[in-house]
Amino acid sequence: MKPTGGKNGVLSFPSQFLWGTATSPTQVEGHITNEWTDHVARDGRTCHPACDSYHRYPEDIEWMVRLGVKAYRMGIEWSRLQSGPGAPLNQTELYRYIDQLDRLKAAGIEPMVVLHHFSNPLWITQAGGWENPATVTAFVTYATQLATALRGRVRIWNTFNEPDTYASCSYLIGEFPPEQKWRFRAYRRVVCHMAEAHGQICPILRQIGSSAGPVEVGFSKNWTTFAAYHPWAPWDQAIAGLSHEIFNQFVLRSFLGGKRGEVSTFLGVNYYGRVRYRHTRPLIPTFGYFHDQLNALGVYCDDMFERHPAGMAPALKEMQQRYHLPIYVTEHGSASADEGFRERDLQENLQALHAAMAGGVEVRGFFYWSLLDNFEWQFGYAKKFGLISVDFADPSLPRAMKPLGEIYRQICLANAVAQSSP
Ligand code: FCB
Repeated sequence: MKPTGGKNGVLSFPSQFLWGTATSPTQVEGHITNEWTDHVARDGRTCHPACDSYHRYPEDIEWMVRLGVKAYRMGIEWSRLQSGPGAPLNQTELYRYIDQLDRLKAAGIEPMVVLHHFSNPLWITQAGGWENPATVTAFVTYATQLATALRGRVRIWNTFNEPDTYASCSYLIGEFPPEQKWRFRAYRRVVCHMAEAHGQICPILRQIGSSAGPVEVGFSKNWTTFAAYHPWAPWDQAIAGLSHEIFNQFVLRSFLGGKRGEVSTFLGVNYYGRVRYRHTRPLIPTFGYFHDQLNALGVYCDDMFERHPAGMAPALKEMQQRYHLPIYVTEHGSASADEGFRERDLQENLQALHAAMAGGVEVRGFFYWSLLDNFEWQFGYAKKFGLISVDFADPSLPRAMKPLGEIYRQICLANAVAQSSP
C-alpha cells in the first residue's frame, strides 16, 4: 500500500504503517552479566545501571503509550537466559520478559524481538565468541528454545543487529569487547558465522510459528553511504569503495545472497547517514573533529554521524530491488543537545522515507532510535539519542519527555509528517 502526499502540507503514511521505537538490553536494562559488564566506556562508566529498565519496564511502557507508538524493537538478553550450551532457559528471567511482552500487548504495542544486539554470554566469549563455529549451533539451539517458549507472544523476530558494526568494532577498531584490532580474517569469520546462524534459525522460527499472527523474520543491516569528500581524491575514493564493499555489500551478500535470500521475510535497515573520507580520515565527530570544523567543510553531523537524508531513498530502493524483501527501518535517530537539529533531522529523514515509499519501496515501519537516553557502548552515557531523557546524575534515574518526543508523538498520532522542514 502506497503512502499519500501533498495534502495540506502533510505526507501521510499507509494505515498499517508501524511507528515504533527501539532499545537494546545492554544499553537500557542494567544489572547484566555479559562481556560488557566490566567494559569501561570513554566517559569512565559501565553499563551496570544503564536505565534500570530491568526493573522499570512497566514505566517505560507507559512512556511508549504516551508517545503513541504501535511497536517496540526490544532485545532479549541471551546471557540472562542460558548458563551454557543447550542449558534450559532460566525460568525467572524468562517470566520477566514474558511479563514485559504481556504488558506491551495490553498496551497495544507490537514487539519486534532482537536475538543478538552486540552482546554475548560470558561462556560464549570465553569459547572464542563468533569466531568459533560452535557458537552458531549454541545460538540456534538457544533461539529455538526461546521461540518455542514465546510462540504465543512474539511474531516478529529480528535475528542479528548490525553484524558488521559488531564485527568491526570488536575485531577491527578494538572498541567493543574483545577489543582486538585489524583482524580482517576474524571480521570475515564473525560475519559469516552470524549469516550461517541466520540461515539456520529463520526456517526454524517460521516453522515454530506464532499464535500472535504471521511470523516475520529478518536481520538488521546498517546502511552507511561511503564517499570521498573530494571526489577527485583517489585514496579517499579507494577507501570509500573498499568500505562499501566490506561493510555494506559483503554483509548483505552473506545474509541474503543465493539460497539464503529465501529464508528471510523482511530486511531491517538501520539508516543514520554518511561517512565521507578526507585525507583518508572519516569526517565524523567521533574521529576527533569538532562540529565547527565539520560545519565549515559543509559536513553536518549529530554527535556521531554525518546526516544524509538524501541517501535514504536510493539505499532502500537498491536493497529492495536486489533482494525483493519488504523493509522495516529498524533504527534511525540522532544524538544532540540541540533538539531543533534533531527535529529537522527526523523530519528530513521521514520525508525521504515517504519519497522512497511513494517511489514503490515497500516499507512496513519505522523505529526511532531510541526510546530512552541510554548507554551508548564505547561512548557511555554522553550521547543522548532518547525521545525520553534519563537523568543519570540522579540515582533514581528519572525520565522526562523531550521536545522531540512530543514531535514524534504528533507524527505517530497523525500517521504523517510535515511536507517541509521547520
Ligand atoms: C546502532 C546500534 C544501536 C545504537 C545506535 C546509535 O548502530 O545498533 O545500538 O548504538 O547505533
